[in-house]
Parts: sequence; structure tokens; C-alpha cells
Amino acid sequence: MLRIVISSPKGGCGKTNTARNLAAAAAHDGFTVSTADLDPQRSLTRWARRRPGDVPGIVHYQVEWTDAEALTAEDGIESSDVLFIDTPPSIEAHPVEMRRLITVADLILVPCRASFDDVESAVPYLKALRASGAKPIVVINFSRPRLNVAAEKGMLLAAAELCPIEMGERADYNRAGSKGYGLIDITGHVGSDEVRTLWAYVKQRLGIDSPSTQEEAEPQPKPKARSRKREAAHGAA
Ligand SMILES: Nc1ncnc2c1ncn2[C@@H]1O[C@H](COP(=O)(O)OP(=O)(O)O)[C@@H](O)[C@H]1O
Ligand SMILES: [Mg+2]
Repeated sequence: MLRIVISSPKGGCGKTNTARNLAAAAAHDGFTVSTADLDPQRSLTRWARRRPGDVPGIVHYQVEWTDAEALTAEDGIESSDVLFIDTPPSIEAHPVEMRRLITVADLILVPCRASFDDVESAVPYLKALRASGAKPIVVINFSRPRLNVAAEKGMLLAAAELCPIEMGERADYNRAGSKGYGLIDITGHVGSDEVRTLWAYVKQRLGIDSPSTQEEAEPQPKPKARSRKREAAHGAA
């Protein structure tokens, strides 16, 4: 199971939006996908519960920090191909658990607005992650094509790797989310391209191919699912 941690000390930068849209993209791509919500605000949990049955399913776990170890242990939760872990902004309140998550993460994504204030608060966090041996990738969120943010990007680039795919500012992220969808669930949506391409980039960084591509190349036996506590499932009320 590959673990993708979405983290930032800044609230409202798009952690949950990134987690749910990438999770939906991965599910459409044929992967088995799970999501875990460590944020007491439970935005991702509510989204997972709203998720309709006519789109690829995602297994969701609502997790307390005291149970965070289950996300990193070999047999902690039922295995899926990819697990997206959404975290709250107040990670400094849980340094031990957070360090463990960071250590086992296969990828750490840090969404960030390209504004001076947001960048200024993200940079020390990115530096701290790098100092602990992690390699965080910044995903610019709320991107506006005609805005000159070269200086802000320069600050981020000096502190971490910058994802070449940005997430645009789109009211439809919110609207789709309110119905339990990601943009990729909406056929023909203009914004689904950036999510699909962001997912393609994540796959490249993880060194994985879509299951369909793998099957064409070489038929693989399906891995056996390990049964562990599943706290909330796709479509649950
Ligand atoms: N790219 C975007 N365009 C428009 N709205 C967005 C975008 N990313 C996030 N949002 C909205 O901004 C708000 C905060 O995003 P959220 O993902 O909840 O941030 P966080 O989890 O970091 O606190 C939510 O209402 C969300 O739907
Ligand atoms: Mg959130």
C-alpha cells in the first residue's frame, strides 16, 4: 500500500480538496483507494459519506490521532493500492505521530496558495520536513493563470520541490465536493484535466502504472486484501 500524506500548517490551503480529488482520480484509474481523515473537522469524512454510488468507490477511515499508528502499521488497516492521508493544520500538537506518518509516507504533498503570506508560513514547514529527511512536493493551489507569482514560486522552489501541475481556482471544486464528487467524476469537466494530470505526476513520482497498463504489459494476480477494521465505507450514511 502506497501512502500519500497531504499536509500543511496552513488551514484552507486545499489539503482536503487535494486529497479527495486525487483519491477520485486514482479510483477512476483502476486503483483500489482508501482515504484517512485525521482532521477533527472531518471535512474529508463528510465528503466520503456523501460520495454517491455511481462513481468509483473509496474506502474511508475516520481516524483519531491516538489511532494514527494503524495507518502506518503493516496490518493496521485493510490494504488498498493507495492510501491518501488528510491531516489538520495543527500538526505541531502531534509531533510524534506526525513524524511517524512522514517517515512512512511514500509521498508528501503540501498544497499552497501562491500568495506571500501563505508561502511565508509554508517555507519553515517545508524546511523542517527536508531537515527530517523527507522530500515534500508543493502543489500550488488556487492558481490563477494571469497572476504573476514568480517571486512566490521562487521562495517555494528554494525550500522544496515544486509540482509542475497546479490546481486552478475553481468554484466547481467546492460544488463537486458538496455532492461527494471530485472534478474527475464529472464527465467532460474542464478542470478534470488538471486533476488527471496531477494524478499522472503523482504516479510518476511513485513509480507506478495504472492497473490497466500493467495488465496489458503482464497479467498480475490480484493481491489478497487483508481484512482489518474499516470504520466507514463508501456510500455510508
Ligand atoms: N482550487 C480551488 N478552487 C476553489 N476552491 C477551492 C480550491 N481548493 C480548495 N478550495 C475550497 O477552499 C476551502 C478550503 O479548502 P480545503 O481543502 O478544505 O483546505 P484545508 O483542508 O487545507 O483546510 C474549501 O471550501 C474548498 O472547497
Ligand atoms: Mg482539511
